[in-house]
Amino acid sequence: MPDLRAQLAHDLSTARDRTLLLTGHDQPELLRQHSPLMSPLVWDLAHIGQQEDLWLLRGGDARCTGLLPPDVESLYDAFTHPRAARDRLPLLPPVEARAFCAEVRGRVLDRLDRFGPDDDPFDVAMVVSHEQQHDETMLQTLQLRTGPALLGPGMPLPTGRPELAGTTVLVPGGEFTLGVDGIDEPFSLDNERPAHTVDVPAFRIGRVPVTNAEFAAFIDDGGYDEPRWWSERGWQHRREAELTRPQFWGPDGTRTRFGLVEQLPADEPVQHVTAFEAEAYAAWAGGRLPTEVEWEKAAAWDPATGQRRRFPWGAADPAPELANLGGHALRPAPVGAYPAGASAYGVEQLMGDVWEWTSSSFRPWPGFAPMLYADYSAPFFDGDYRVLRGGSWAVGASILRPSFRNWDHPVRRQVFSGVRLAFDA
Ligand code: AVJ
Ligand code: FE
Repeated sequence: MPDLRAQLAHDLSTARDRTLLLTGHDQPELLRQHSPLMSPLVWDLAHIGQQEDLWLLRGGDARCTGLLPPDVESLYDAFTHPRAARDRLPLLPPVEARAFCAEVRGRVLDRLDRFGPDDDPFDVAMVVSHEQQHDETMLQTLQLRTGPALLGPGMPLPTGRPELAGTTVLVPGGEFTLGVDGIDEPFSLDNERPAHTVDVPAFRIGRVPVTNAEFAAFIDDGGYDEPRWWSERGWQHRREAELTRPQFWGPDGTRTRFGLVEQLPADEPVQHVTAFEAEAYAAWAGGRLPTEVEWEKAAAWDPATGQRRRFPWGAADPAPELANLGGHALRPAPVGAYPAGASAYGVEQLMGDVWEWTSSSFRPWPGFAPMLYADYSAPFFDGDYRVLRGGSWAVGASILRPSFRNWDHPVRRQVFSGVRLAFDA
């Protein structure tokens, strides 16, 4: 237990350092509605504290008043206020939002010191996951923001093996264990559970994600003007939204990244594409998107042992030589940068770099049971949500597993979303 407590305290403080870094800007930057798709950064900040107060100090009982007066607390309810209207709410100013978050955190750490049998470490990990996910959301906001660069170019990354682009590996058919149980992955979220056996026909999957150079070839071949590569809905969206290239690409082989204009790196995984663009690219390349079940088998299954691996590469925790995670690179690494991170089947860069669109709608696994934060997953099942897998460079390492499921509308592309191809075998 002391080890687990120290781990949780460390994960809480890693998340908080990141939150404070991403909200350490002048007041106008924090109050601005940078995009109708995102909240003002000061909303995310106080919402992070409000959720921590609710789940960890009040055990999820919203009838019990927390550290904020009820009328102020209600401003941070994501289900009541649409993102586009949050700048018009009487939000806590940045100084007060920071003080509130610090007060909540102090009390949470006091409780962690006196952790007893009634306290569930899962709930703390769930709150860490929530804060880390909002940190990624804030990076999306900062990417959409216009104006002089605030974040710099990001940390150095390993060099790639560009010759891997376009290569595939075979995943033979057969059963595997999809999803996880709390006994093996105590911090897995509700939608990752329970573990169950599924039979997956043989398929091939891209050894690495699709690169900018590969995606540019699709554009140069007129891919955005060819309805045959697009689904009906995808084509309709492509026309209405007038898509001609990934978001943040210029017409001249450049891109804008957190306010910096730079040459598009040829060997970096493409990011900022909708699921519809990902599907169109895949059709043009003679393939398709993987299902999320195929994706998880390629990432987690070890056919030699007939067991899941904790991570694609094995049991070791994520580290800089295994995956690009944590948010400080501010970009994906070139393909082939992580040979040591390969899965049992030899698939690389499954964790980190870019979220990978799948062809699957977001649905519960059979036997799904909601966690304490019951509205985390369930309200989004059976909606217009597509699953993304693997995690981007912007994901906090401590919250990620091969079973982790992200979801968004297929038209979204402010997400750090990319493409990995699959093919029928
Ligand atoms: C899992 C990333 C889709 O941002 O809507 C944050 C995470 N849920 N606060 C989202 C989440 C509640 C969620 N995603
Ligand atoms: Fe939230």
